[in-house]
Amino acid sequence: MAERDDRSTGILPSILDAIGHTPLVALDRIARDRPGRVLLKIEFFNPGFSIKDRIALKIIEDAERSGKLKPGGTVIELTSGNTGTGLAVVCAVKGYRLIAVMSEGNSVERRRMLAALGARVELVPQAAGARSGQVSKEDLDLVDQRTEELTRELGAFRADQFHNPSNVEAHELTTGAEIWEQTEGKVGVFVGTVGTAGTFMGIARALKKRRSDVRTYAVEPASAPILAGGKVVDTRHKIQGAGYAQVPPLWDPAFCDGFLGISDEEAIEVARRLAREEGIFGGFSTGANVAAALRLASTAVPGTLIVTTANDTGLKYLSTDLFPE
Ligand SMILES: Cc1ncc(COP(=O)(O)O)c(C=O)c1O
Repeated sequence: MAERDDRSTGILPSILDAIGHTPLVALDRIARDRPGRVLLKIEFFNPGFSIKDRIALKIIEDAERSGKLKPGGTVIELTSGNTGTGLAVVCAVKGYRLIAVMSEGNSVERRRMLAALGARVELVPQAAGARSGQVSKEDLDLVDQRTEELTRELGAFRADQFHNPSNVEAHELTTGAEIWEQTEGKVGVFVGTVGTAGTFMGIARALKKRRSDVRTYAVEPASAPILAGGKVVDTRHKIQGAGYAQVPPLWDPAFCDGFLGISDEEAIEVARRLAREEGIFGGFSTGANVAAALRLASTAVPGTLIVTTANDTGLKYLSTDLFPE
């Protein structure tokens, strides 16, 4: 086949070229009457419908460059679904086999989508006493054990989003840089949930490097404020993908100026308002992020731009109580 040159056209060589460059939308309806202005980065516009496509692409391309991943190789990852879906998109285009190891506590939509994209889904039963639809630290430990076993057995490349510095770099080079450009350097505050901490650390680094007075706030489940140094009352919460009640290895407290605890109820209420009043259909962690941003907007210096992310879409939670019939 002749080499194609699409550079001067509107044609993208593959769906991977559609990752990133997501819109930043002002929430001027639900945040009106507050001194601060809330801006939401719509990450469900990515091909895998979440913010994790960005790290999937960077992790795979960095592994290709370093030789850790060879043509036709096998990729394995522990995932709550979004990273797995991002990896499945990247592996489909690049011809790698993907094994996604996930907890039975994650929603069924996530598993089905992974399978549709050609991944093998390895489901790990939840810890005793766990609640269906909620993934705790105990559940995550079990998924980690199984991922390690399979990585050794198969000699696979483990993407390892919890330790891989490419995770933070992806957000520093893309998400954070885009926020800076889209606000023309006027962003005052970034606020967001922490799972692996890749999103938070990458964006915080990108923004603070450019202007040291940008303030950053981490969102945690109200019942498990471990980063804030609070009392962990209950590790079971509904904010899938975030708040694992452990300090993630990629976390660096020097880049965080404060913490907000958000309850399941608050995250759900705000996700529903976001859908009805702004026409933006996000998941639980999007609700938590916007709830936190609204709180900060209430006490902000007038005109402050407060940025947060819509990490994924409500479509990934249709089997949960987020948007009931
Ligand atoms: C829905 C959702 N929200 C938030 C996060 C947290 O992002 P990070 O792992 O970059 O801290 C994730 C991570 O998987 C996620 O899937």
